[in-house]
Amino acid sequence: LFAAESQFLKGVVAMDGLPDADRIEVCFAGRSNVGKSTLINALTGTKALARASNTPGRTQEINFFTQSDSHYLVDLPGYGYANAPLAVVEKWQRLLKRYLSGRANLRRAFVLVDTRHGVKAVDEEIMTLLDQSAVTFQVVMTKADKVKPAEQEKTLTQVRAALTKHPAAYPEIVVTSSEKSDGLETLRSIIAELD
Ligand code: GTP
Ligand code: MG
Repeated sequence: LFAAESQFLKGVVAMDGLPDADRIEVCFAGRSNVGKSTLINALTGTKALARASNTPGRTQEINFFTQSDSHYLVDLPGYGYANAPLAVVEKWQRLLKRYLSGRANLRRAFVLVDTRHGVKAVDEEIMTLLDQSAVTFQVVMTKADKVKPAEQEKTLTQVRAALTKHPAAYPEIVVTSSEKSDGLETLRSIIAELD
């Protein structure tokens, strides 16, 4: 699947802009700055496909990328950005809710969690929304290169405990580093095997 090229399709700010639900779709959710756009670039082997940045809240639209002719990869705007105006947050929450509950071709949501920080309250909120929307989600740990193995284990224990509260959680956690290319092949096969 990932041998083929990926392309940016469009950025969407409202439900009526969504592309036809005619391909297998996965989305990437997570706190602002957790590494969603960087992960999509690393997975697809395309340097600047998704715009990554040091400025939190950079990705404001739902960005659709095509992978091969069969899949959509979806980069969701980051949440939990402290400086975002309330009106923006509320608009985004409404769109996200509609997207998650109404997208028939959405096979899995990947919830990205920073290996340094673990699951925070805002992550729990998204997980609850995914439970309510009956969208299976899988946690992907990011930036594993930034912590020592013992700290990684500690975070994993915390994440596993948090997941027991969420019926939509897929039990297997994928640990990644976009920097070191760790875990990417695992994640690629997970996506390729969804049908
Ligand atoms: P928003 O679009 O604001 O929600 O952020 P995002 O989740 O898309 O994060 P982005 O991919 O822009 O990455 C944020 C910062 O983290 C960038 O400076 C990346 O270079 C860095 N980063 C992402 N992944 C990794 C990683 O695996 N290791 C390291 N060391 N840094 C990473
Ligand atoms: Mg981004």
